[in-house]
Amino acid sequence: MTRKLALAKPYQPFLLRVLHGLTGLCLIAAILTAYWTYDTYDGRWGRISLPTYQAIEGIHGTFGLWTLLIFPAFVLYAFHRGQRRLIQPDSFDKLAQVGKPIWWYTLNRGTNTLALLALTFALFSGKMMDETWLPQGELTHAWYYAHLISWVVMVSAIALHLLINAKVGGTPLLLSMLTWQFRDQDSPALWLAHLSQWWFDVRQGAWARWFQPMTMMVGLEIAILVSIGAAWLISLVK
Ligand code: HEM
Ligand code: HEM
Repeated sequence: MTRKLALAKPYQPFLLRVLHGLTGLCLIAAILTAYWTYDTYDGRWGRISLPTYQAIEGIHGTFGLWTLLIFPAFVLYAFHRGQRRLIQPDSFDKLAQVGKPIWWYTLNRGTNTLALLALTFALFSGKMMDETWLPQGELTHAWYYAHLISWVVMVSAIALHLLINAKVGGTPLLLSMLTWQFRDQDSPALWLAHLSQWWFDVRQGAWARWFQPMTMMVGLEIAILVSIGAAWLISLVK
């Protein structure tokens, strides 16, 4: 029985834990400092009166930037190695089976995908912000409103993500994302070999199959990556 339980213990690939953990940590820091920035400069929807700290805007921008830098790697992982844990072509049919385990798994995949979309929106709208707006009391810019909304959407997406993961796998599943142990075949020592193999395949022409077949998920992945690229470009041109 003990053995059975040990086998059933959830395990997350180490690369996923690294990318998911870095994105999550930077994002949570961005969310907390975002609130403090709002509390310092805005407060129209209520305040908890944190100390007024003007440098918090720059600190928030820095955490936002780190999230933006690591996010594309996490997106590539999630849409390739982690594809099974995002929405599937038959997700809508599965959602008809309300309350069954498959319904919860499907919902979980939906919220994983939602978290990626919510973060894309938060990062894009952040890149459209101008650091001079809040210190000058300019609180009515459309992109500022969009960025504020992105915070609410992001916090709701994470809350749903955690609740559904807790429902599907309980504490063991949540903790499986936060541990450091890895299996031998999942060791970072092998990553370089995997990368060389991947590069070898690319040179052999594997790239020709990258967007084939052009499914909804490939379209979604391209849309997210293009949005991130566009956010950089637009903010550079501005
Ligand atoms: C704050 C603590 C967090 C915990 C404890 C947590 C927990 C988890 C767990 C347990 C899984 C695996 C689910 C499974 O095996 O089916 C997972 C997957 C995932 N999480 Fe989180 N999560 C957190 C934050 C976030 C955040 C902030 C994002 C925002 C982008 C996020 C996005 C994802 C995605 C996209 C997947 C699927 C990965 C894949 O495709 O393989 N998570 N998370
Ligand atoms: C999930 C929530 C949020 C994320 C992920 C996020 C992310 C970002 C990103 C990536 C930037 C651009 C940084 C740069 O290019 O230097 C940024 C800028 C900014 N954000 Fe946020 N943000 C969030 C919520 C908020 C909220 C609620 C506020 C409200 C006050 C806010 C205020 C700002 C300001 C004022 C800037 C411009 C400052 C700067 O660029 O240094 N953010 N944010």
